[in-house]
Amino acid sequence: MNNSKVLEVIETKRSKPVAKVGIILGSGLGSFIEEIQDKVIYSFEELPGFPITTVEGHKSQLILGQINGVEVAVLQGRVHYYEDANIDAMKIPLQTLKSLGCSTVILTNSAGSLNPDAKPGEVILLTDHINYMGISPLFKEKGNARFVNMIDGYDPSLRDLFLKVAKQQKVLLHEGIYFWFCGPNFETPAEIRGARILGGDVVGMSTVPEVILARYLGLKVAALSVVTNMASGMDNQPLSHERTIENAQKGIVDLKKLLVTFLKSFSNN
Ligand code: HPA
Repeated sequence: MNNSKVLEVIETKRSKPVAKVGIILGSGLGSFIEEIQDKVIYSFEELPGFPITTVEGHKSQLILGQINGVEVAVLQGRVHYYEDANIDAMKIPLQTLKSLGCSTVILTNSAGSLNPDAKPGEVILLTDHINYMGISPLFKEKGNARFVNMIDGYDPSLRDLFLKVAKQQKVLLHEGIYFWFCGPNFETPAEIRGARILGGDVVGMSTVPEVILARYLGLKVAALSVVTNMASGMDNQPLSHERTIENAQKGIVDLKKLLVTFLKSFSNN
C-alpha cells in the first residue's frame, strides 16, 4: 500500500501542500495544536490507510499549518502497537510526512520515569532507545534498505538545538534513553528494575516503531517524553491512563515552549 490516495485527499483542501517539520503528539499532549497558525485539518478517517486510534487522549487528526513561520504537519494522535498488534501501523502517516516534504520529525510521548531526578511534569529529550520487544515495523520489507543504521537515530544536531533552546527558555530538560514496553498493561515493578539495570531512563508504549520507520525513510528524528509518573514500583502510586492524561497537562507548558522556540531557531538555521 502507498500513500498516493492520501496525497489526493490532502490536495482537496490545500493546493500544493508542503511541510518542513512533522510533529507527532502523544497521549494528553494534543492541545499543542493551539500553537499552529492557518490550520487545515484532516481527520484520519478521511485519509486512506491512516489508522484510527482507540486511545483516549488522542484525536486522530492531521493538521497542516505554520508555527513561527515554519510549515508543519502535525499528527494529533498516533496508533500504538498494542491497539491492533500491527507493528507498521504508522507507516502510511510517516510516508505522508515525507511526501509533504518533511525532512525532520519530532516525536512526543507521555512516559514513566526511571530516573529519580526526572519528576512528573518534567521533560526528557531522548538520546537513544532500547527496543526490548523484539519486533520491528520493517518486518516484511525487502532489499538492503531495511537494515537501517540506528547509530545517532536521535539526531545529534537536533538534540543540541533542543538543549540550547531549553537553556534560553530556562526550561529544565533532562536527557535519557527510552525503553519500549509494548503495553497496554503497565509494567511490573520487576520489569522496571530490569529496565533500569539495562540502561533505560524513561519507559513508554510508543515512539520506537515510528523512530525506526522515520530512519528507514531517511527522516531526521528528535523525540521528547513528558514524564507523567514515576515508573511502576518507583513510588507507591498506582498507575492508570487517567493519571497519565491528567499529569501530561503539567508538562505541556514546557513542551510547548520547547517546540515553538525550537521551530523558531530551526527556521533561522
Ligand atoms: N509505562 C509505560 N507507558 C507509560 C507510562 C509508564 O509508566 N506512563 C505513561 N506512559
